[in-house]
Amino acid sequence: MNKTLWGTDKFGNDISTYEISGKGGMKVKLMDFGATVLEIHVPDKNGNDVDVTLGYEKLEDYFTNDPYFGCCVVPSANRIGGAKFTLNGKEYSLDVNDGENNLHSGFDSICHKMWKVTEEQDNTITFSYNKKDMELKFPGNVSILVTYTVTDDNELRIDYVANSDEDTIFNPTNHSYFNLGGHDSGDAMNQLVWINSKKFTETDSHSIPNGKLVDVAGTPMDFTEEKPLADEIDSDYDQLKWAGGYDHNFALDIVEGELSLAASMRDVNTGIKMEVLTDLPGMQLYAGNYIPDKELIGKSGKPYVRRGGVAFESQYFPNAINIPEFSQPVLKAGIEKKTTTIYRFSAN
Ligand code: BGC
Repeated sequence: MNKTLWGTDKFGNDISTYEISGKGGMKVKLMDFGATVLEIHVPDKNGNDVDVTLGYEKLEDYFTNDPYFGCCVVPSANRIGGAKFTLNGKEYSLDVNDGENNLHSGFDSICHKMWKVTEEQDNTITFSYNKKDMELKFPGNVSILVTYTVTDDNELRIDYVANSDEDTIFNPTNHSYFNLGGHDSGDAMNQLVWINSKKFTETDSHSIPNGKLVDVAGTPMDFTEEKPLADEIDSDYDQLKWAGGYDHNFALDIVEGELSLAASMRDVNTGIKMEVLTDLPGMQLYAGNYIPDKELIGKSGKPYVRRGGVAFESQYFPNAINIPEFSQPVLKAGIEKKTTTIYRFSAN
């Protein structure tokens, strides 16, 4: 474990970075501010080290971090329509921070809070955060643990554990953006993506699922055969035009609760392949359409480009809390919830 002081937050708390690594050559750097992933280094086909995740050079940029680079998004990833939901007969109004809707829980994000390190070893680190009742306008005192582990098989394994004293929403995701050609190698659209899904959640023009599951077959949303993102991302297809490209939740062909292969992405130049495994029912494929072109200064001091990284966000379906037919992202009082997502890397 390699701990380094990086700076302080606006309250004067020390922010440190931590490096964890495995015997397969993989190394991940994180920080306690937001329990954020900063760097993911994996070997390419020639054994060279490539950092495959987007991030900032300067700590200060993480204090706003509009794209949510590397964030651990809790308690509620993605969108809740109308920024409202009803649970046990009680209506809750959330922050309206994305059009009329709630995105990634609201304004005072837990991505911008200090987490405590509760356990650390060479290959693993656990961060803990205690969300207070009605913090971010979600009910319940919720204790949240997130453990990041680098396995000897070049996996970044993310385990979440949550406990609440009241029924509430718990829909965590990791918001790392991946570019398997290297974080600063330009747009990631030539990378090949496969998704274990035959249906996606149709949305309105503001990315809110309307409850309909639509067959991907015959649409640009079909990733049942691996294809480059560039192939159809700019198709004349309303779902894509409204979102500016892929920014959709896929209903995974897996059994909820069973850790299974959900998706993969591959870069032909570096030979790096990433496989995503999860036990959650959905995955948002977000192609970085809203990364402003050549405005954000990335880790190497160079500006990132639009679509320079792609997020694979495992989660309950967005807006599920308002759609009873969807699996519910509800954490019951007194019943522990555990969920796991893995990003596995190989190269050839
Ligand atoms: C959403 C995008 C959003 C991005 C950054 C993603 O999870 O799907 O629409 O722009 O997060 O907030």
